[in-house]
Formats: sequence, structure tokens, C-alpha cells
Amino acid sequence: MISHKQAFLAYLAQTSPTPLSLEVVKASGIYIRTADGKRYIDLISGIGVSNTGHRNTRVLNAIRKQLGKYMHTMVYGEYIQQPQIELARALAKTLPNQLNSTYLVNSGSEAIDGALKLARRYTGRKEFVACRNAYHGGTYGALSLMDNAFFTEPFKPGLEAVTFMQHNELDDVKCITSSTAAVIIEVVQGEGGYRPSTEEFLTAVRNRCTETGALLIIDEIQTGMGRTGTLFAFEQTSIVPDILCLAKAFGGGMPIGAFISSTEIMQSLQANPVLGHITTFGGHPVCAAAALENLRQLQTQGWIDEVAEKEKLFRSLLKHQNIMDISGRGLMLSIQLESHEAVQKVIHHLLDREIITDWFLHAEDRLRIAPPLIISKKQIKQVCHHLMAALDTLS
Ligand SMILES: Cc1ncc(COP(=O)(O)O)c(C=O)c1O
Repeated sequence: MISHKQAFLAYLAQTSPTPLSLEVVKASGIYIRTADGKRYIDLISGIGVSNTGHRNTRVLNAIRKQLGKYMHTMVYGEYIQQPQIELARALAKTLPNQLNSTYLVNSGSEAIDGALKLARRYTGRKEFVACRNAYHGGTYGALSLMDNAFFTEPFKPGLEAVTFMQHNELDDVKCITSSTAAVIIEVVQGEGGYRPSTEEFLTAVRNRCTETGALLIIDEIQTGMGRTGTLFAFEQTSIVPDILCLAKAFGGGMPIGAFISSTEIMQSLQANPVLGHITTFGGHPVCAAAALENLRQLQTQGWIDEVAEKEKLFRSLLKHQNIMDISGRGLMLSIQLESHEAVQKVIHHLLDREIITDWFLHAEDRLRIAPPLIISKKQIKQVCHHLMAALDTLS
């Protein structure tokens, strides 16, 4: 009989020659348990997903309740389904007035593709502007918004007209013109290594979009749902997007995303021709029920209020001669080491200590720290102790 690992390598498509291959048997809170009896601290939240912890009890209950009623009944947008309405309504209540219409999808990439299509429909323009070192997803449209040739070259040409501006470079906003359909930015660049956008840059981009009639899309797929210390990171800035994209932690562990805009902009999906975006499972009722309960938890449990204090604690404990820089915001921190090799060494050393960390697509010399928001101060002290020991091995 072949082992689970042999079957994993033989029958599941592989995207890397060196998958981590942890054999998961259970996950709860900040922990992931594996078949060899180990209990890992998930210091990356399954890449920005488990903000309210793995298998949050109330989210589980909401899922069970919905399972007792119905699962899929019809493609997106035709039937009235309570979890979808309540979720969209709860989002409208918490967001600025102009973000009152939600299109529910399956993933972050689909939210981005939907937002791009919406911007083309509404403006009648074809061009897009994105930032260097951004990552907005793996579908063809979303991938076209990435400038890192290492990953994009085999898929060229993507979308025909994408211009890249340097992140935080004020002069570059001039590339936004009256031909631009939309500009897409992250408040804190995720795969760029958790680099915050400056207030000046965000304001300059917002102003230039308003002047030229381009729509501003903010990708909060990684920064959203409390990760940076407010429900959405843009709330800490002076800008409001025309379209907001959510996914990852939005579903409390279930696959769901959204692009959110005003009723006026969103109406352009209805005509010339109808069905401006089609999705079968988008807003799946079980996922929508999970997302609604997840949102309620984030709004009532006080975890988001503790993010700034927990960030401070991490920063005060992460002091080591091998740390060259720490960037990020809230519980979205990146530690810069001297090289990619050093990062890999620390990741593997931490795995031996049953702690999961990771690297970044466009910042290979940085280590990712993004634990579930429910992590306690005691657990932060514990992981920082192990981090220091791992960093010692580099000296
Ligand atoms: C900022 C950002 N946008 C979009 C995506 C794409 O999301 P998904 O993997 O759900 O398609 C990601 C995924 O890592 C992301 O970090």
C-alpha cells in the first residue's frame, strides 16, 4: 500500500518540487495537528485566511445551521438566499455609503477579475494601472496585474494594456490618464513583503483617479478582516475606493470573495449585454453563512482592537542582530534577513520547533508573520522565543 505522502505526490498536481507535505489531521484555533503527532502553531493563518482561528466554533455552528437548510440551489444572482442578503447588508452597514452593492464570488482572483470587468463596463475604457511587486491573483486577468517577469513571462501577453507604477512613487501617478479604466492598489502590499503604502501615495492615486475618471480598486484580500488593526486597512487612510475586493479571511475558512461598489457602478453589469459577470458557486449559501458569522465575530469579540498592542509586542520582542528590517502593519509583519537562504533556513528550523512561517513571492529575503488575530500575548512570547533561537542558528 502506498503512503499518503506517496499518493499526494503521485495523484495531486504539484506546483513546486519541494512541497512542505505536512499531513494535516485536525486544526483548531492557532494550531494545526499532523499525522505524526505534532502540533504546529500556524503563524501565517493559512496565508491570511484564519483570522478568527481555525474552525471558529460559531462559524462552524453557522455552517451546520445552513447545511440543515440548503446548499447550492441556483447560479449566482437568480434566487433570493438569506445568507447572501444578510452578508451583503452587513457589509453595506459597516462600509462607507458608496460601497453598498456586493457581488459575491468564489475567490480573491475572481473578485479581482470581476472588479476589472466592472471597471471596463462602467468606464468604457480598456487600460489598467497596477503597482510593481503587487500580487492580485492567479487567473489570467489578475495575473496580468503582476510585473514580476519570473512568474508572468510564460503567460504573456496577458491583458493588453497594463501600466505599472512604482509603489509609493508619487511621480508615477502621472501614468493614470483619461484612458485608464481602473487603478488597483493594496494598502499594504502583501506578496511585496508587507510594505505599507504611504498616505501621500494613496491620496495622490485617489486624486488622480478622480481627476481622470478612472476607478480606484483597493485589493483588501490580504489586508482585510481586521488583519491591520481595523476591519479594512483603507479605514486607516483618508481614501475610499470605488471598488473594494475581499476574499481569504472573509469566509472564516470557507471559500468566498466579493467585489463591492456603488449601486450606480454595479448596475453596468446588468445591460449591454446582460450578465456582466457569471459565476455558478459565487456566494455559495454555506460560505455566505460562514462569512456572515465570521464578520459578526470580528465586529464583537474585540480581537481587532488588540491588533495594535500585539503588533507592538511582536516588534518589542523581535530584536536580533540578524534582523535587518521589520515592515508591515498590525498582525501582518515581515522580517528581513540577509538572504533568501537565511529565510529558508529559519523557516525549516521553526518547523522543527512546530511553528509554521513562510516567505513572499516578490521579497524572498523576508519571513512572513501573520498569525490568527486570536493569538494570545503568551503565545506571541512563546513564538518569539523560538524565532530568536532560529535566528541564532544563522550567526
Ligand atoms: C492581495 C491579494 N490579492 C489577491 C489574491 C488572490 O486570491 P486567491 O488566491 O483567493 O485567488 C491574493 C492571494 O494571495 C492576495 O494576496
